[in-house]
Amino acid sequence: MIGRLNHVAIAVPDIAVASAIYRDTLGATLSDTQAQPDHGVTTVFIELPNTKIELLEPLGDDSPLIGFLQKNSSGGIHHVCYEVEDIIKARDHLVATGARVLGDGNPKIGAHGKPVLFLHPKDFCGTLVELEQC
Ligand code: CO
Repeated sequence: MIGRLNHVAIAVPDIAVASAIYRDTLGATLSDTQAQPDHGVTTVFIELPNTKIELLEPLGDDSPLIGFLQKNSSGGIHHVCYEVEDIIKARDHLVATGARVLGDGNPKIGAHGKPVLFLHPKDFCGTLVELEQC
C-alpha cells in the first residue's frame, strides 16, 4: 500500500539555525520558510536527489511539537511521510486492521497542498507516520 518516502521530518527549536546548518554546512537547497497555522508548525523543505527533509519549528502555544522538543531539546526525527495513491482507501484499510488515525480521522491539507493523515506511533514501531496522497 505505501509508496515512496516523501520526506523525513526533523523537529527543531530554531528553524533559522537549522536552515543554516543544512544550507551552509551540508550544502543543501532550501525552500522558503512557511508558517502552517493549521498544523501549529513553521516549515522549511530541503530537496534531496531522492527525497526531502522537512524542518519543523513550533508555531503557537498549542503546537504539537512542544512536548517533543521538551523531551528532545536539540531537536530530533519527528515523523516519516509515505506516499499513498488514495488516502481514503488507505485510511479505511488501516482502521479496519486496528491502526489509530490521529485527530478526527479525516485528511487535512498538508504542507504540499495535498491531503495528509497521521498514524499513531504506538501502532507503527514507535514512529509517527504521515501519509500523503500523491
Ligand atoms: Co511531514
